[in-house]
Amino acid sequence: GCSCRLAPSILNADLSNLAVECQNLVDAGSDYLHLDVMDGHFVPNLTFGHPVVKCLRPKLPGVFFEMHMMVSDPEKWIEGMADAGANMYTFHYEATKDPAACIRKIREAGMKAGMGINPPTDVEVVLPYIDLLDCVLVMTINPGFGGQKFMAECLPKIQFLREKFINLDIGVDGGVGPSTIQECADAGANLIVSGSALIQHKNRKQCIADMRSIVDQ
Ligand code: DX5
Ligand code: ZN
Repeated sequence: GCSCRLAPSILNADLSNLAVECQNLVDAGSDYLHLDVMDGHFVPNLTFGHPVVKCLRPKLPGVFFEMHMMVSDPEKWIEGMADAGANMYTFHYEATKDPAACIRKIREAGMKAGMGINPPTDVEVVLPYIDLLDCVLVMTINPGFGGQKFMAECLPKIQFLREKFINLDIGVDGGVGPSTIQECADAGANLIVSGSALIQHKNRKQCIADMRSIVDQ
């Protein structure tokens, strides 16, 4: 088994009760929180931005916030998110003309840098940036909505990266839950995002424990 870290995506939680939901997921055993930001342009949906993150930060001191930035022009929100207390900024390869500059700016702002790739994007595009990145996030759905079907055909991208880079943090996001986590971990993912399968589970603590026991075998 791997030493996987589990991160809930709060997208399908009660967003009117965001701080309570986040605390509940931390208490249930999450390693960190995956916060989905959507701009209605890069993806056909809207969520929230750095003003909300800034209000959330003091309520969850010490909790690691990974911002999953499903936005066009991701350079735009780097300073705002750093100032709001975000720990990691994951932008999309498809969303910027200059990923290297984006990564540099994220680091200068004091955050960890992640880069996501959508299902249609070839995995090779990340190779020039590996040394600059803290994490590659492999999407196993087309981003925009929770609760979509897991796309197992994206797993070879994770395998490809894991074979080349033993120590790289590789995230997986989209349709991951107790029934799909095994194949993600087997492929080599170590940062596991889980949305609706965890949020809608009647016992979140049990769900996290179940997922952990599957990958720790
Ligand atoms: C979707 C988001 C995901 C999403 C995952 O665009 O990036 O983080 O919330 O939700 P599930 O696990 O339901 O696919
Ligand atoms: Zn996400």
